[in-house]
Amino acid sequence: MRVICVDNYEQMSQKAARMVASQTILKPDSVLGLATGSTPLGMYKELIKSYEAGHIDFEEIISFNLDEYYDLDKDNEQSYDYYMKTNFFNHINIKNENTNIPNGKADDILKEAMDYERKIRDAGGLDLQVLGIGRNGHIGFNEPDLKFEASTHMVRLDEQTIKDNSRFFDNVEDVPTKAISMGVKTIMHAKKIILLASGKEKADAIYEAIYGKITPNLPASVLQLHPDVVFIVDKEASSRLDVDKINKEFL
Ligand code: GLP
Repeated sequence: MRVICVDNYEQMSQKAARMVASQTILKPDSVLGLATGSTPLGMYKELIKSYEAGHIDFEEIISFNLDEYYDLDKDNEQSYDYYMKTNFFNHINIKNENTNIPNGKADDILKEAMDYERKIRDAGGLDLQVLGIGRNGHIGFNEPDLKFEASTHMVRLDEQTIKDNSRFFDNVEDVPTKAISMGVKTIMHAKKIILLASGKEKADAIYEAIYGKITPNLPASVLQLHPDVVFIVDKEASSRLDVDKINKEFL
């Protein structure tokens, strides 16, 4: 594991965008695992700028999103489908048929989950997975639990997550209570992972993910076992870390 501590959200976004951009340059038909939430918004903006400047190209890129709310229409402004289109896909030249987001409206969620896993496998697996982190240490929508859920599956959202995500909805009652999410094994099979975190409300989760016990109670802790993972954290999110020591230990 490598931890890069930066000063602020802008630096975190730029660093992350450069890593994703490098991946697309090194392998133009890369399979990218993408995340939603407020954290990666700056990274998407930076990537759009690089695309507009002609530095990167998404013509052959394939993407798989981590998760989607259950039973929310695609055109609902809070759906992750809507988020990805408005914040990223509509501004770059990725082919619509190459973008994949779990269908939270599928009649048969079990089949949808199995199909999603198969599609990822058929595409050759994830080359680079981008992650955010929940305040409770969730990755994707893998909530703290007694065991790690391996594959894409239906999740019941934590009260904390519902409360946190209610900031995007008019009322807390409007937040879906379920979602469909890639599993921990799906994420861990990605060849490279970058996890972004910004803000003091993420400091405990980041500390536990790096130094804590590896436990499904804090899903991000499993990343300690991944052979190629980089955390990019800003000052506030890294406030519980000994940054100098980390830089010496991991670089
Ligand atoms: C959401 C998403 C996660 C995301 C996390 C943090 O619920 N399912 O993929 O990483 O919560 O969100 P934010 O970046 O808005 O803090």
